[in-house]
Amino acid sequence: MRWRSTLLPVVFLLSLLPLMTRGATNSGFKICSYKVQKFNKAKASNFRLMHSLTKIVSRYDITVLQDVMDPAVIKSLLAALNRYEEFTYESVSSKSLGNSPDSMQQYVFVYRTQTVNVSGQFQYDKKQAFVRNPFAVEFQSKKTAIKKFVLVAFLAEPKQAVQEMNRLYDVFLAVSKNFDNRHVMFVGDFHAGCAYMTRQDKKKIKLFTNTSFSWLIGDKMDTTSTEETHCPYDRMVVFGEPFLKGIVPFSGKVVNIARDFKLTMSKVRDLSSNLPLEVYLKGSAPLLKATAPLLKATPLLILASASVIVQSFLSAL
Ligand SMILES: *[C@@H]1O[C@H](CO)[C@@H](O)[C@H](O)[C@H]1NC(C)=O
Ligand SMILES: *[C@@H]1O[C@H](CO)[C@@H](O)[C@H](O)[C@H]1NC(C)=O
Repeated sequence: MRWRSTLLPVVFLLSLLPLMTRGATNSGFKICSYKVQKFNKAKASNFRLMHSLTKIVSRYDITVLQDVMDPAVIKSLLAALNRYEEFTYESVSSKSLGNSPDSMQQYVFVYRTQTVNVSGQFQYDKKQAFVRNPFAVEFQSKKTAIKKFVLVAFLAEPKQAVQEMNRLYDVFLAVSKNFDNRHVMFVGDFHAGCAYMTRQDKKKIKLFTNTSFSWLIGDKMDTTSTEETHCPYDRMVVFGEPFLKGIVPFSGKVVNIARDFKLTMSKVRDLSSNLPLEVYLKGSAPLLKATAPLLKATPLLILASASVIVQSFLSAL
């Protein structure tokens, strides 16, 4: 019977472990940007394709979709996502954008209602500047170190990608003024590479020449799923040091969905010729603060348990 009293404190300590490590293992807040090429009803009616897309989107707190050609596909996607028990997803969409009736498309932000709120939206609306004017959504979350941040979706017109990318600086000014918030991140298929943007072209783009902007996806990355191309088309660009510090270092990357979701390359290409990007925001401090007293108490607990063990050991002699 004696062994029980010896084990008790150990069991008690073990039961505390998950509580003590929660702060440290808080994996942060995940954002994804994905151009699902020509996302229309035909694509959404492909069950296996939708299943893969649902799995991908369900991994993130926010997913910024581009090239959405029919609002009905987002309804299907949300229905599929909300069949999962854990989280509820909602969406915010831009109006239909484009310069010809058969290529009209929307930017769509899909987000988890349990982890983030939408606090505003803003459609950049300058004539002749973009084929698809960028669309901004401000988010607010208790889970992130940066409490309020703005994501701007942007899909460049390939033939004028350099000019459009340069105009993102004006978009930054308009967006940050609109929300009175400079925690701004641009995401999307910028066509920022290969024939559409050469190294020389970078000098003509303010988001490159102004060092306050950080490009999280480097020029050597390949954001395409096709074998023939190796181009960093898709990007994530953050303004300012405060927001940069709220991001998990080096977490901005191209997602290997073939590996992560066990998809064949042909399925990956059926989804899109672009691959998704992801980035993690740092978790909020309050979670760490809440566990701090517990961490401080730990040495005492260990001491107390140790003395109990020694006592019961001595009494056993
Ligand atoms: C969203 O906003 C509501 C109302 O202000 C608040 O109660 C909730 O905690 C917020 N959710 C998150 C994840 O920040
Ligand atoms: C970069 O842009 C920011 C935001 O508009 C501005 O405050 C800053 O002066 C610019 N830096 C340079 C070197 O132009």
